[in-house]
Amino acid sequence: MPKVILHKNGQPHEGEIKDDGNLVVSAGIKKFPFPHLSYGCGMGKCAKCACIILQGGEHLPAPNWKEKKQLGAHLEKGYRLACQLWLSHDIELSQDGIDPALAAQAAK
Ligand code: FES
Repeated sequence: MPKVILHKNGQPHEGEIKDDGNLVVSAGIKKFPFPHLSYGCGMGKCAKCACIILQGGEHLPAPNWKEKKQLGAHLEKGYRLACQLWLSHDIELSQDGIDPALAAQAAK
């Protein structure tokens, strides 16, 4: 089971997710990382689930077209959409310090 550390509001939240699990799906059924993860549509359309990958990004697949559309240049800064990631390795990620421009876009 992949171990996940999610930084949110200055706090690290640590838990596990099932193999090939998705953080937004898991939070949606009130399992870790609920209630700490911010998300919206679950379909790559709103960017509310945007995270900055701190550790373990090398195990992730290349960004899909939805991530490219929503995140653009932010991909190069280590951003990913949590709803588009199925995790099979440990990962550390943050929803603190999200670029205000991206946060504003996600708030629309
Ligand atoms: S939850 Fe909307 S893009 Fe991920």
